[in-house]
Amino acid sequence: MLIAPSVLSADFGNLQRDVEAICAAGCDLVHVDVMDGHFVPNLTIGPVVVQAIAACATKPLDIHLMVENNTFFVELFAPLKPEYISFHIEEEKHPHRLIQKIRSYGIKPAIVLNPHTPPESIEFLLKDLDMVLLMSVNPGFGGQSFIESVITKAARLNEMRNKINPLCRIEVDGGVSDKNIHLLKDAGVDIVVAGSYVFKHRSFKEAIDSLKV
Ligand code: DX5
Ligand code: ZN
Repeated sequence: MLIAPSVLSADFGNLQRDVEAICAAGCDLVHVDVMDGHFVPNLTIGPVVVQAIAACATKPLDIHLMVENNTFFVELFAPLKPEYISFHIEEEKHPHRLIQKIRSYGIKPAIVLNPHTPPESIEFLLKDLDMVLLMSVNPGFGGQSFIESVITKAARLNEMRNKINPLCRIEVDGGVSDKNIHLLKDAGVDIVVAGSYVFKHRSFKEAIDSLKV
């Protein structure tokens, strides 16, 4: 299992310290939640802060867009060369075009599904994706409870990707902890995002190690 701590739960007064610490503690990716106050009822960070995170992170960035105008934000963040940019299928009229655009920058394209969105909705995009991110909370805030139905959804998506695109990774985001990590592993999940579980733990390293199943 690869681990992507979400900096949304970091101490923003000590952002550099926390980003350096999760990287030193052995995370695989640094998950960055970008919210515009329209697609979700919360507003987070823009290019100035994401640039500062990119400058001190020693692991690749995993940018999760929760915005209305995906193309605008992809163009804004592409110069930071993240590993992944993921956008919500619920908010995109032309997902295939946007996948091509992200890939044209040398960035891995990913699609995010809200808790109610079935994996079949992206069946015809799966072969063009490097990752599918399944939300296990309603997007917008850290520290919410894990929605159990994501386990069934991940297992279904796992079957689909094994047939269509075995290299496409499955990531789960929201309410992840040592309580559900084994269920996620068994369902075929490759990467977990963990915000409050990692940043509220007494040791970032212990928290990250406990998710590496
Ligand atoms: C929620 C974000 C998540 C969030 C996860 O909209 O996409 O990445 O930070 O936080 P936890 O792990 O606390 O649920
Ligand atoms: Zn996220």
